[in-house]
Amino acid sequence: GLDISKLLGTTGMVTLDPGYTNTGSTTSKITYIDGDAGILRYRGYPIDQLAQQSTFIETAYLLIYGELPSASDLESFTSRISRHTLLHEDLKRFFDGFPRDAHPMPVLSSSVSALSTFYQDSLDPFNPEQVELSTIRLLAKLPTLAAYAYRKSIGQPLLYPDNSLGLVENFLRMSFGFPAEPYVVDPKLARALDQLLILHADHEQNCSTSTVRLVGSAHANMFVSVAAGINALYGPLHGGANEAVLQMLSSIRSEGGDISSFVKRVKNKEPGVKLMGFGHRVYKNYDPRAALVKATADEILASLGGDDELLDLAKQLEEIALSDEYFIERKLYPNVDFYTGLIYKAMGFPTKMFTVLFAIGRLPGWIAQWREMINDPMTKIGRPRQVYTGYPERAYTPAADR
Ligand code: ACO
Repeated sequence: GLDISKLLGTTGMVTLDPGYTNTGSTTSKITYIDGDAGILRYRGYPIDQLAQQSTFIETAYLLIYGELPSASDLESFTSRISRHTLLHEDLKRFFDGFPRDAHPMPVLSSSVSALSTFYQDSLDPFNPEQVELSTIRLLAKLPTLAAYAYRKSIGQPLLYPDNSLGLVENFLRMSFGFPAEPYVVDPKLARALDQLLILHADHEQNCSTSTVRLVGSAHANMFVSVAAGINALYGPLHGGANEAVLQMLSSIRSEGGDISSFVKRVKNKEPGVKLMGFGHRVYKNYDPRAALVKATADEILASLGGDDELLDLAKQLEEIALSDEYFIERKLYPNVDFYTGLIYKAMGFPTKMFTVLFAIGRLPGWIAQWREMINDPMTKIGRPRQVYTGYPERAYTPAADR
């Protein structure tokens, strides 16, 4: 019902593309996706090769600087990050102020925003040394902030980082360790988490990354731009889906495990009933990340003893959906989040932390995209147009006459 003449704005033709399904916002050299073929590459490297052979730190380097690091570059990158994992003691006090039952995502975004008040010597987007410093600070401090958000929610003491450990091991220790006890990292668990972080590290112009770029296009600093991205990721149609999948599976189980009647409700488009973890704006084929995650889910649940019943339920749901005309017609396949929640649960993370883990993974992508945006001479402040459909001019009426 839109009057096409309205598309002719005051300064020429305006393109109306709700949700930007077909509008490119930028050129980018970082991530390549072919949604029809189910292909994902970071800087040209296929995602399965990176997931199997690289590490999260190395992949972060690749995304941010464009090339795989030499052994010595990787060592210096890793050691610079490990020297910045501590938080300012005053920033730690922020955690006292949040309600204990707060969701850790807004706690995380608020504390990342707060980093810009404590680290004022690295805010200038056009000073390369400061950009480098904020890059290292964010990579180093986000896992600390994330672990603190979790510890706060369970009323346990915040542990200082132990910089003899790697980034993932350190995060696991700060999440699950105890002050006076040595924390023994399970290498299988650490490797699985590292691999999941690689799979989440970038995904070109998704909702949160576009948010980071848009905020940054106004020349806001990297900390607050990333904080905005975390808030976008919080939404259940984006990163929050991993949490929503587990809630969906649990409620199907508690209602007796009747998958076909659940699928019927999805197909009838009952308000609020979607097959969470299915569908993607770009992938019209199996999400290549979901295939890798599914394999990890099998391995991890077998070795850590996870919730096999929910995994079985997820697999049955996938099977039914993939052979159903509704899903086939609409090219709906499992996305990266369909199986991740089951793995995070087996690792011992509560449901509320799932999207926080996604944020730790996505951080290198946000940073790489922010830096590409700031250094691109084509960048202009992001400012979409609109098509006005409200009242024409009308005269103000005093309150007594309304
Ligand atoms: N369950 C049921 N039906 C769906 C689903 C789903 N998960 N996803 C899409 N559809 C249907 C829509 O109802 C629509 O049907 P119609 O043509 O009859 O109206 C059709 O498929 C096309 O869907 P759109 O909503 O137009 O697709 P869009 O690209 O806008 O949305 C999105 C993509 C948001 C991911 C959607 O598939 C969805 O809501 N999925 C569930 C949430 C989810 O898993 N999000 C995680 C995405 S991946 C990530 O962020 C890491």
